[in-house]
Amino acid sequence: SGYLGLVAVVLLLSGCFGEQNLTALDPKGPQAQWIFDNMMLSLYIMAFVTLVVFAIFFYILAKFRREDGDNEYPKQVHGSTVLEITWTVIPILLLLVLFVPTIIGTFDFAESQAPDDVEDAVYIDVTGHQYWWQFDYEEGFTAGQEVYIPTGERVYFNLNAQDVIHSFWVPALGGKIDTVPGIDNTLWLEADEPGTYMGKCAELCGPSHALMDFKLIALEREDYDQWVEDMVAKADVEQPEDASVQAGYDVFQESCISCHAVSGPGSASGPTLTNFGDRKTIAGYLENTDEQLEAWIRNPDEFKQGNNMQPFPDMPDEEMDALIAYLRSLEVREEGDPE
Ligand code: CUA
Repeated sequence: SGYLGLVAVVLLLSGCFGEQNLTALDPKGPQAQWIFDNMMLSLYIMAFVTLVVFAIFFYILAKFRREDGDNEYPKQVHGSTVLEITWTVIPILLLLVLFVPTIIGTFDFAESQAPDDVEDAVYIDVTGHQYWWQFDYEEGFTAGQEVYIPTGERVYFNLNAQDVIHSFWVPALGGKIDTVPGIDNTLWLEADEPGTYMGKCAELCGPSHALMDFKLIALEREDYDQWVEDMVAKADVEQPEDASVQAGYDVFQESCISCHAVSGPGSASGPTLTNFGDRKTIAGYLENTDEQLEAWIRNPDEFKQGNNMQPFPDMPDEEMDALIAYLRSLEVREEGDPE
């Protein structure tokens, strides 16, 4: 019955989240597979225990039921050493079967360094903020909200938080881990195939905790290397290359630059926007359209309660249009690039 229940849950959740890969029940990487296998193992053990207990229970109900004319008390028993040892030892053995791989896996997943024979391992610093994610790459640039990784290899994350405790979780790829101000936690993830994987903040961190979404985008290694190269180049650009977005750049310099960096590494108080035009979403969960972007800039609190962005309700339309055109120009990916 446990298994049927799980099947029902899988079907239900795959209907809801299948498209976004927001499920631990359809693993897309070795760590997630390991977690799934252990979850199934514990489920089989629980189903087995349930079956045995119920079998004994019904057997005893039937065998020792009161019969007609049976008016004597049955023999009174005060304990059985054999039984007590049995029902102590069996659970200990079952728990050991779960405990040993869990401990081994937990330490393996927290590994912060690639083995010595791996030369070009990817290391990414993750910082949780209310309510967005910052990803700093070793090559000297920063991405907000969407983290890119190569497929088929372990990518090592060093996780921290700016304000309160958050938790970094990409269910299809692996376990979650808290990001804690002042403490470095480590975790590696690996994606088997290219794709976009939904990520969530998994620690209650304020009114917009439930909206603190991010995406992990896995690319083939060569596409990833290209992306890194493009990001490095883009992060070097201060002035817009395209004169048509100069007006929007001026608005940005006046209204946005004190919180949002567009170049260089690190971040101001808001997400770095180096590749904002590539983002699939605004603020982690809103569709990245011009209308939505304008609505967001005019009143961010309507969409993400308690966020720190300043609203610009009265920005003139022509300034808004210019600003949006400038933000759209901040992209490194091209039409037809692998998703
Ligand atoms: Cu950040 Cu919940």
